[in-house]
Amino acid sequence: MKTGIVSTIGNTPLVELTRLAPEHDIRLFAKLEAFNPGGSIKDRAAFHILSSALHSGTIAPGSTIIESSSGNMGIGLAQICSYLNLNFICVVDPKTTQQNITILKAYGATIDLVADPDPITGEFLQARIDRVRQLRDSIPDSWWPDQYSNPLNAAAHHQTMAEIAQALENNIDYLYCSVSTCGTIRGCSEYIQQHGLSTRIMAVDAVGSVIFGQPSAKRLIPGHGASRRPELFQPDLSAECIHVDDLECVVGCHQLLQREAILAGGSSGAVTTAFLKTAGMLPPGSTCVLIFPDRGERYLDTLYCDVWIEQHFGAVAYLWTENKELFYDQSTANPQGQ
Ligand SMILES: Cc1ncc(COP(=O)(O)O)c(C=O)c1O
Repeated sequence: MKTGIVSTIGNTPLVELTRLAPEHDIRLFAKLEAFNPGGSIKDRAAFHILSSALHSGTIAPGSTIIESSSGNMGIGLAQICSYLNLNFICVVDPKTTQQNITILKAYGATIDLVADPDPITGEFLQARIDRVRQLRDSIPDSWWPDQYSNPLNAAAHHQTMAEIAQALENNIDYLYCSVSTCGTIRGCSEYIQQHGLSTRIMAVDAVGSVIFGQPSAKRLIPGHGASRRPELFQPDLSAECIHVDDLECVVGCHQLLQREAILAGGSSGAVTTAFLKTAGMLPPGSTCVLIFPDRGERYLDTLYCDVWIEQHFGAVAYLWTENKELFYDQSTANPQGQ
């Protein structure tokens, strides 16, 4: 039985959204993962991985956990390590926001900054993973959860899907899920298969992410997408994959805020856009669930900042539609985000 703050992980609200797409005959629900204590869906994976490793004796109180993360997984691990009396070294790169570094330090994490990208790939991800390996090999009683390949990352999300399935009595036609390590999508997919549900998963990936075989390109929105295909990926995880670019993420976030008063992170904006792009093609009467992985407060200087938006997308026109909704005129935007 869980006690303390970790007992508040999971069992997040599943709310019906009636304002996002009233023109469609669809029952729409959102799983609000921002309600986890560390602020994101990653609390589930962090707790499941570390508590399983403690249980199996792989680690013990006093062990040192080392992981590469610049965002939610780092914060989730920092929180759980603090609670479970584990040391935590978070390997970050210069793109990590000062706010996230401050949160990580507040939970007691040691920050290890990788200053240069990998010389061959030009990517920070590879450089951070090389650094994790180096630290793991040199620090006694240390352990790398390796969120990109650890099946426990996916297993944590059997519970995520179980909560959705129980709330909707197994009647879910479409599940929209963003991807990075593929832990969430794989765990949900495994649950769907194991329980014989007919739910079809709509994967939502970033334009410029390589997970579903697209060429690598510069991406601005953190959280979703990946510059290398995670080991947890499998080609049959989803019925479809919808790619969403950075500006579409921003627009999705603002639509969610204006229509439903939900201040969510970038991947939730991506999921919103992916749903709105495809809603017209779904059979009438469908039940859809959108997973919203985190909250918007950590993106106030970016996704919700007019100056940042103009800086990255050019002279994007701000127009008020007849419904009094903010609308970004993409015809004036610079799609490269330069
Ligand atoms: C904000 C956000 N959205 C989506 C994802 C993707 O989740 P997963 O790593 O389980 O694929 C992450 C993962 O870190 C995230 O932080």
